[in-house]
Amino acid sequence: MNPVRVALIGTGGIAGAHLDAYSKVNEAEVVAVCDIIPEKAEVTAKNWNVKNWFIDYRKVLELPEVEAVDICTPHAVHAPIAVDALKAGKHVLVEKPMASNLKDATKMVKTAKEMGKVLFCGIISRWSPNIQQIKSFIESGALGEIYFAEFVSTRRRGIPGWGSTFIRKETAGGGVILDLGVYLVDTLLYFLNFAKPLTCSATVSDFIGKQHEAVVQGGWWWNPNEFEVEDFGSALLRFENGATAVIKVCWAAHIDTLGNSFLLGTRGGLKLTHTFEWFFDYAGYMAQANLPQTETNNNGFVQEVQFFVEAIRNGAPLPVKPEEALMVQAVLEAIYRSANLQKEVVVKVPEV
Ligand SMILES: NC(=O)c1ccc[n+]([C@@H]2O[C@H](COP(=O)([O-])OP(=O)(O)OC[C@H]3O[C@@H](n4cnc5c(N)ncnc54)[C@H](O)[C@@H]3O)[C@@H](O)[C@H]2O)c1
Repeated sequence: MNPVRVALIGTGGIAGAHLDAYSKVNEAEVVAVCDIIPEKAEVTAKNWNVKNWFIDYRKVLELPEVEAVDICTPHAVHAPIAVDALKAGKHVLVEKPMASNLKDATKMVKTAKEMGKVLFCGIISRWSPNIQQIKSFIESGALGEIYFAEFVSTRRRGIPGWGSTFIRKETAGGGVILDLGVYLVDTLLYFLNFAKPLTCSATVSDFIGKQHEAVVQGGWWWNPNEFEVEDFGSALLRFENGATAVIKVCWAAHIDTLGNSFLLGTRGGLKLTHTFEWFFDYAGYMAQANLPQTETNNNGFVQEVQFFVEAIRNGAPLPVKPEEALMVQAVLEAIYRSANLQKEVVVKVPEV
């Protein structure tokens, strides 16, 4: 197989993990890197032995040898690059979330369809051994029908301050809902077999991120003067199949944990702590068992690159289909809409 020649755009924090993955997959080769900050692009090219570096992604798209682009830019800069790349006939791997808003994400999915190109949103949690293990367990029928789920993600003081791209509206589009909420919403929808989300009632807030005194020893560093997004969010979601779910997520809060993630089914429940605790009835008793967890020493980024290459060369199905990433984005968008309007809203999933 000829290696898929890839250009990586955005040489910031996560780019190293992607470049490391490409170095371990023979079927792919990085032929160019690009960043609007020239020093970053140049140093990355040097460190990873990449022959070309650029500061304008449009120049990268002019290279005939580039078959695919890997977009590692801030959220609001995913869509413009992805759409231009797809229109230039390139396949696209884009970091999570698909985009910073639903309109942009819809445009990406439509353009990929029109151009007949691969569009892969790298929501890495999807193929983690833990998530795959729970999915198989659900599919065994052990839990029956899932009628309620709660998914939480807590950082007591983990506001990503590097470069400020996560905390400024212009580059990030939103805060913790887009950054970490994307994983929770994707996992929830995956476990519910992408049941149609109907309504959403949500709140978001920014009480901690704006406080100078909240930048403390032991926490991550950020500049409160630049904090323009939310650091906390919660949502109640209702689905067409009758299930409901709660999402709670924070980058910063005065608490050690927002609670446990768990699933309630008609025949069993599952608590997702550091172990998986299964609750069920057996022989007239309330029973409980810990599920041994799958080994987690896999490299999710290497798998991501392998999925991308297989989809491009052999038409293999992607672990995250573009329509699924779009439904995730529709829920994220509904969370912001509900929070802004301070009322329950209908989740609008675009037809593409
Ligand atoms: N999968 C994961 O575990 C994981 C972890 C961290 C970040 N991410 C995602 O990766 C993406 C990037 O995050 P990061 O931490 O690397 O951010 P970052 O701010 O460290 O890096 C982004 C880089 O993109 C560059 N950039 C901005 N606009 C550009 C443009 N038009 N053309 C070229 N380069 C441009 C910036 O100069 C910067 O170097 C985000 O979508 C984020 O959510 C994923």
